[in-house]
Amino acid sequence: MDIGEASFLRIRVLVEDTSGFSEGLLAEHGLSLLVEVGGRSGVARLLFDCGQAYSTVRHNAEKLGVTLKDVSFIVLSHCHYDHTGGLLGVLKETGRVPVIAHPEVYRRTFLLKPKFRYVGVPFTKEEAEKAGAIHVLARSPLKLCDGLATTGEVERRAEFEAREALEAYMLSDGRLIRDELRDDLSLVANVRGKIVVISGCSHAGIVSIVEHASQLAGGKHVYAVVGGLHLAEASEERVKLTAEKLRELGVEKVAVGHCTGLDAMYMLKREFREGFTQLHVGSLVKF
Ligand SMILES: [Fe+2]
Ligand SMILES: [Fe+2]
Repeated sequence: MDIGEASFLRIRVLVEDTSGFSEGLLAEHGLSLLVEVGGRSGVARLLFDCGQAYSTVRHNAEKLGVTLKDVSFIVLSHCHYDHTGGLLGVLKETGRVPVIAHPEVYRRTFLLKPKFRYVGVPFTKEEAEKAGAIHVLARSPLKLCDGLATTGEVERRAEFEAREALEAYMLSDGRLIRDELRDDLSLVANVRGKIVVISGCSHAGIVSIVEHASQLAGGKHVYAVVGGLHLAEASEERVKLTAEKLRELGVEKVAVGHCTGLDAMYMLKREFREGFTQLHVGSLVKF
């Protein structure tokens, strides 16, 4: 797949776990990014994830002076409620638009610790369709516009990342089995030759995602990573290896937050210095 090239990429954080230093923005455990990509055929605006509650998305969008009315499609990084919960409300603003995700995104998925709880999409596929979703549930990468594609499912996962994957479970034929979170997908952009990965929670493992994205981009190295890295409960060894491997793979900039975790952010800041940015609601990341 030739993903083409964009002339610019702007990522505005609408929902994140920290509110930053601006006045009146609301933080929430979740993620929602408004992504604008410019290319030969104009500007495409899309929403990558919808946060946990529509009220937070709406409040922050209003405060930041951005509208969701001209969003032309929505991408869901994975099933978790803190990325999908706001979808039904968002669709009221966008109207009928394609909602791109993995075919398994609507499965019943649970965490057992600290107590049994459902953590998947908090509504049914039919409810989303009624609200205006035109589902595009694809396992393989999908080109969205010049210079932007989804990664699709990340098939090959690095051993050190798979070993510490989130301990989730799903129902299959009346049994609870391990949920590998196969639905975890990211965005890959080519901005004037620079490759940028935008991830939700990186449950597939950020090193595996970066390797996968690099392959999709014809072998070019990934320049920047933006999003959540889900290293909050990771071992020190994994965090260290992640920082080193990202460097080795040629990553120069990391703009992270949400489930990345304080220890991992500290280590990434030490590794990447001025190439490190902590995301918060209202952050604008430009390429
Ligand atoms: Fe998350
Ligand atoms: Fe997640």
